[in-house]
Amino acid sequence: MSNHPIGIFDSGVGGLSIWKEIIQLLPNENTVYLADSANAPYGERTKNQIIDLCVKNTEILLKKGCKLIVVACNTATTNAIQFLRAKYDVPFIGIEPAIKPAALKTKTNKIGILATKGTLNSELFAATSEKHVSGIEVIETIGKGLVPLIEDNKINSTEMDSLLKKYIKPMLENDVDCLVLGCTHYPFLVPQIKKMTGDTIEIIDSGLAVAKQTKAILVKHQITSNNTQKGEHIIYSNTALTTIKHLVDATEKNIQLVLEKY
Ligand code: DGL
Repeated sequence: MSNHPIGIFDSGVGGLSIWKEIIQLLPNENTVYLADSANAPYGERTKNQIIDLCVKNTEILLKKGCKLIVVACNTATTNAIQFLRAKYDVPFIGIEPAIKPAALKTKTNKIGILATKGTLNSELFAATSEKHVSGIEVIETIGKGLVPLIEDNKINSTEMDSLLKKYIKPMLENDVDCLVLGCTHYPFLVPQIKKMTGDTIEIIDSGLAVAKQTKAILVKHQITSNNTQKGEHIIYSNTALTTIKHLVDATEKNIQLVLEKY
């Protein structure tokens, strides 16, 4: 089991921001990444639709022999992880908006959260925020339209700039000093967001925390790879191969990667 791959899935290319942290922290692990771009955005779907899609993704990764599954999507985690954990024996790692670190860091007592409708409306998100943000003003913003542009390889576009302005400007005007990126697609927008905020806002995401948690769970279940070579990586996508190639080529060098349509 130890040398079986880690499975990672997202509604599309966003979870690659988590995949990058995982392969950096665990360089000897093999990974299989599934980008269900044909069904993105999950954030506009109902809870039941999201659960069905997550079950399909999980079944595919289990057929590939994955030893652990990372749900690299806030929308999928907040709507479906309890269901997945109850249905399957494999360990699941999820990702939720990093509200707690933001609540601990803010000096203005005002934090912004940019996430999908599916995440912000979920019961799990409501429970987490109630627990961590008492006495802090939270500006919740649905990043409608951002995911389709990222999937279409339009990170640098005028449409993207104007959407980001619409979402970020009210936060700046309201003295927000921490911005939580509550969707795994959004870390790819950090350079554009920083152009608008400068150093006035600290941008917080959960990528590294998820990679650390993955490592801890592998150790706990004694399924850490004993491979001494660098891991091998396969990325499957049903539509967004060009965007994936672009995102991966831009940052990842010297890795063994196969990109395939499914
Ligand atoms: N990347 C996903 C997330 O973290 C969702 C994007 C979507 O499909 O709406 O929420």
